[in-house]
Amino acid sequence: AGGETHAGALAGHHVVITAGPTREAIDPVRYLSNHSSGKMGFALASAARDMGARVTLIAGPVTLATPEGITRINVICAVEMLEAVNAALPDCDIFIGCAAVADYRLADIAEHKLKKVPGSAALTLNLIENPDIIASVTDRECPPFTVGFAAETRELARHAHDKLVRKRLDLIVANDVAAPGLGFGADDNAAVLYHLEPDQPEVPVTSHTLSPRAKQDLASAILVYMLP
Ligand code: CTP
Ligand code: CA
Repeated sequence: AGGETHAGALAGHHVVITAGPTREAIDPVRYLSNHSSGKMGFALASAARDMGARVTLIAGPVTLATPEGITRINVICAVEMLEAVNAALPDCDIFIGCAAVADYRLADIAEHKLKKVPGSAALTLNLIENPDIIASVTDRECPPFTVGFAAETRELARHAHDKLVRKRLDLIVANDVAAPGLGFGADDNAAVLYHLEPDQPEVPVTSHTLSPRAKQDLASAILVYMLP
């Protein structure tokens, strides 16, 4: 219902959304990744389109169908996702970082399949930090309205506030992935939204609580807080 009442509210706006996991290669047959399904980011893309926006969806490897009427750019790893974001940013009005970007990648990707060393009890992989995509967006001279996501298993408010400040976000959507039936892979989700009072950035965050509902309905409800 939220989307219908705001039909056309994003007309003339370009919304760029990252979604899904990233996949960081270890060797030609293996990778590091996470449980992100991409459902929330894809739901946001459809909801933004329904509000009249032009939508660019930059998606990590997920099995979801492309929502009609949006531009989808497929990427695999965090560095590729950053390049796709940079290419989409120049005329972007709203940036939504919904992707679960891998925090680290392999320092060196093996050219050939790694072989098990018989009798070796442990294997060490050397990881280096990936670029923080959303922080690079807000670092630009004229940043778009920037929205982050925080999936946490504890201390939701503290971590959300920390990310809001550290990444200079306009809004953060936090969810408790430890809640049964919600979050990663599920069809339903709940969220708490935080922002800072512009004139008093040190003051505790203001929050809106969105009760559990289908991700598509949650996406429409979240977008209402991004309307210009
Ligand atoms: N994000 C990003 N690039 C990264 C890591 C995160 O753009 N390399 C974005 C996510 O898309 C999300 C927000 O930052 O919108 C928060 O992601 P999260 O993983 O919770 O933040 P981190 O700073 O990586 O903190 P943590 O140690 O909890 O993983
Ligand atoms: Ca992270």
